[in-house]
Amino acid sequence: MKCFQLVRSVLDEIYSEIPLQDEAQKDKAIKDEILSLRSKYAKLLSSSRVIDYENPITRFSYIYSYVTSHANIVYNIIESSDMLCALMDSKKVSMTSIGGGPGSDLLGVIKYLTNASKSPTLRCNLYDRESAWGESWSDVDNKLENPFKISIYFQQFDVGEPSTWVRHVKYLSSDLFTMVYFMSEVFGNKTTAEPFFNNLFANAKKGALFLYADNNTPDFYNWFDELAHRNSLITIESTSKNFNVNYDEEKTDLGIYYDKFGFPKLTANIAYRICQKQ
Ligand SMILES: C[S@@+](CC[C@H](N)C(=O)[O-])C[C@H]1O[C@@H](n2cnc3c(N)ncnc32)[C@H](O)[C@@H]1O
Repeated sequence: MKCFQLVRSVLDEIYSEIPLQDEAQKDKAIKDEILSLRSKYAKLLSSSRVIDYENPITRFSYIYSYVTSHANIVYNIIESSDMLCALMDSKKVSMTSIGGGPGSDLLGVIKYLTNASKSPTLRCNLYDRESAWGESWSDVDNKLENPFKISIYFQQFDVGEPSTWVRHVKYLSSDLFTMVYFMSEVFGNKTTAEPFFNNLFANAKKGALFLYADNNTPDFYNWFDELAHRNSLITIESTSKNFNVNYDEEKTDLGIYYDKFGFPKLTANIAYRICQKQ
């Protein structure tokens, strides 16, 4: 399975939502936003500014630039982990992707299941502050050639606003929680986000697995490690490495967008953790 092909279909949908008449204007706005996002992500450590993903230009630019790379990171981590591979052998798998609106974590899991010819019934909760992501991946099963049973639920949910998450309890029984390039995004508002993570780690079911992956920056992974330690999660794997997008992904599957916007992100230097609730 190739993520770029699925990403292309979502890009078409978002491109048509951009409220500018002229194609040249849309393309200029996207090029500017791709550069702007790059500079904002470089400053997450020192900034508490919030990125506005409601804007379709920002959502297009994010999906174009980052989703395939992040999905392949998730795919490669699962493939190299005995514990995550064993989880995917179950008849039913439920996952919650925190900050998962752009769909990268879900695509990574789908890519693993497809390539490993595994077909559990997959339930995926995408929890994200930005409701505009809600539509993007709701019909991903229709876009797969040999779909297995997938149900996707989007929930608007701000980790810094307890009133938006405190009443939700069902997601806590997920088998897998993914936090991919999420903790860096809320790092600037650490104090308001911590009660959410403490609640999640304390109340997830016994045996639940947590996949954390983010920029290889000590401030980010030390924060995750500290919260995991405080809540007695067992660390199964703790690794830093460089990732390249897998060779099976063809940039040309991005079609006309590749000619217009050039290379999406293809390499990443990340730190990741796989932890388990005791
Ligand atoms: C950098 S993206 C990561 C998305 C995806 N996991 C990936 O790797 O491509 C961060 C996501 O977190 C969401 N987000 C940011 N702050 C949030 C908050 N306080 N609560 C919930 N979601 C938030 C954003 O809307 C965005 O979708």
